[in-house]
Amino acid sequence: MRKKIVAGNWKMNLDYAGGISLFSEIVNMVRDEKKGDQIAIICAPYIHLNSLAKLGGDVVKIGAQNCHQNDSGAYTGEISAGMVKSVGCEYVIIGHSERRQYFAESNELLAEKTVKVLANGLTPIFCIGETLEERNNGTYFDVLKTQLEQGVFGLSADDFAKIVIAYEPVWAIGTGLTATSDQAQEVHAYIRKEIAAKYSSEVADETTILYGGSCNPKNAAELFAQTDIDGGLIGGASLKSRDFVDIVKTFNS
Ligand code: 13P
Repeated sequence: MRKKIVAGNWKMNLDYAGGISLFSEIVNMVRDEKKGDQIAIICAPYIHLNSLAKLGGDVVKIGAQNCHQNDSGAYTGEISAGMVKSVGCEYVIIGHSERRQYFAESNELLAEKTVKVLANGLTPIFCIGETLEERNNGTYFDVLKTQLEQGVFGLSADDFAKIVIAYEPVWAIGTGLTATSDQAQEVHAYIRKEIAAKYSSEVADETTILYGGSCNPKNAAELFAQTDIDGGLIGGASLKSRDFVDIVKTFNS
């Protein structure tokens, strides 16, 4: 059985006190209200990671939103996978479209980061997704395939089995424009088919594939009910404890 995951991505939001306060609320609610074996994760800015892991990392897992591809050295301002691991992080988002777009992160660089994250015993949440233009001109399957091939299909089957994939159509992020459950399912099924072709149907069946992009408590149930959607990567709604926990609870029954 593949894992069901609801991961929040706080992006560049919340000062230190705000992060502690929101995370405390989320931990208390998840502790009281989560019924199933779904995994709740919060991917927070670096400044929060150490405190959050100690505050409730047993109830809500902690993730970083990025890391550097090298172990250490003269890379002013950067943070390594080993560093985030050392404070209790278990997950790292790799290849979010905002990093691809604003920080020019290429598939090749993201492949290096993924290897480093795995080498440090962390789970990469590897993001792929097409732009609105690519959706409209019908090239989105090719775009997604290239992102997979160049980003993660260089991994051995053993390593690939440790990663989580997140499909985040760029046109649905922060826009309020969610992919319909049919659109999302179509892509998730495609991703799983490509994984089966590259590795095996066993590996494909076991891979957790999350949907991200304007996911909220109202649309989560329909999205997560799709055969190939195993949970969500949540932006805006993860900044509201009630909304985030309601999305986590989608898997309660
Ligand atoms: P929104 O949920 O705000 O659309 O963001 C999605 C996202 O980018 C999560 O990584």
